[in-house]
Amino acid sequence: MRKDYNNCFPKDFLWGGALAANQAEGAYLEDGKQLSSADMVTGGTKDKPRMFAPRIVKGVYYPSHTAIDFYHHHKEDIALFGEMGFKMLRISINWARIFPNGDDLEPNEKGLQFYDEIFAECQKYGIEPMVTLCHYEIPWNLVKKYKGFYSKKTIEFFVRYAKTCFNRYKDKVKYWLTFNEINCATIAEGGYNGLGLLQKKDLLNDELIPLADLTDNAQERFEALHNEFVASALAVSAGHKIKADFLIGCMINRITWYPLTPNPDDILACQTKNRIFNDFAGDVMVRGSYPTYIFSYFEDNNIDYSFITKKDQQILADGKVDMYTFSYYMSNCISTDPEVEHVGGNITGGARNPYLKLSEWGWHIDPQGLRYTLNLITDRYPQVPIMVVENGYGGIDKVEPDGSIHDLYRIEYLKKHIIEMQKAIVQGVPLIGYTSWGPIDIVSVGTGEMYKRYGYIYVKRNDDGTGDFSRKKKDSFYWYKKVIASNGQEL
Ligand code: BG6
Repeated sequence: MRKDYNNCFPKDFLWGGALAANQAEGAYLEDGKQLSSADMVTGGTKDKPRMFAPRIVKGVYYPSHTAIDFYHHHKEDIALFGEMGFKMLRISINWARIFPNGDDLEPNEKGLQFYDEIFAECQKYGIEPMVTLCHYEIPWNLVKKYKGFYSKKTIEFFVRYAKTCFNRYKDKVKYWLTFNEINCATIAEGGYNGLGLLQKKDLLNDELIPLADLTDNAQERFEALHNEFVASALAVSAGHKIKADFLIGCMINRITWYPLTPNPDDILACQTKNRIFNDFAGDVMVRGSYPTYIFSYFEDNNIDYSFITKKDQQILADGKVDMYTFSYYMSNCISTDPEVEHVGGNITGGARNPYLKLSEWGWHIDPQGLRYTLNLITDRYPQVPIMVVENGYGGIDKVEPDGSIHDLYRIEYLKKHIIEMQKAIVQGVPLIGYTSWGPIDIVSVGTGEMYKRYGYIYVKRNDDGTGDFSRKKKDSFYWYKKVIASNGQEL
């Protein structure tokens, strides 16, 4: 019998929110932590790119260094998440807190204790933690000394780090993700962010340069991505040995690509884009092997794929993930016509869709695209549960003189996406949870701004470094609380 549309969320549905360490914690050199790759990137705006130099430049603002000071406010923040009724909180562990240089033999006890505290707070409010081991940052020392994941040594370091976390937190954390948006390494923008891969030229450069100007080497990038797949699979296998009921997932940045026109050229270009950007990484991690179509892509792009050894293939086959998780903010179009209008997007942009509105940051708003994506994922991987682990509206919030914040645009955005999740569930999608992005305002990855806010909770912190870090509930706070209390029935 067809599920009741108004009452379709499973009774133990995991409602919550998601954060990343470098966008929230601050305290970038406290209690033994050393620099991470994210600490080397300056603030920017929609019109001014984030910059990078292989050293910290005096007098320049680096948002991750202080972020929203979650490191010192986590008790207060988790209490607010508890008040909203969160069932799940997705955080990431900052690798450089646990292994400050990445290649250390012993972990930093103070770093481990910080996450003990976080999980203890979560437990107080009945919040199930989900942990991303690597969310767009790796210890800076690994970037400098080993070229990030381009080196096989980094696989070893990551597995040591993963096992340390699994062993330490095995009785507190059941849900794990290995790498955030691992598929972003299929495009140049993901080389530094996702893999810690830098070319010598950029490492020797002394000036601040736009992140987008970092040298890309596709051969090395795909080799480094392969090493990440291997590291992830080894971590999955090790994790299952440490605790059989761990649920360890992949995390994919899903940008739903539509062909801009029915021109067969657009259709085929769109198919390739979907395969390489959206499907490839998930195929490797869920199915445990490289899909056939990637080899012709490698050949077309002169990528020598002899790095995929027999031994590695076995590791991938043995380390398949238990669940498929993804981020969804927008869709974009693909066109073979160079004249069409382009718009931005999450990590990468595309052609303008005339049927959709744009956010203030120029991202398409496409709730139906979420249903379409959920259906595609279910058709492709019917064997695993699915979670939306990021979705949200980055916008400009105004604090009224009485301190209230009426973020109706955010409520609208989220409501429409949740309605599409309902429809997807009714159509048979095995969706087990939804952690919206940035339940409390945090630093934006794309622009480094605080001005672009996602939260249900406002943080008084501005891009000029002012603000006392105080927290305030927005209208969406009360709305989301109601959504969770009614298990998605009251929207
Ligand atoms: C995802 C990342 O790509 O998008 C998050 O996993 C990020 O870390 C989010 O914050 C939203 O992007 P932005 O640029 O608005 O912060």
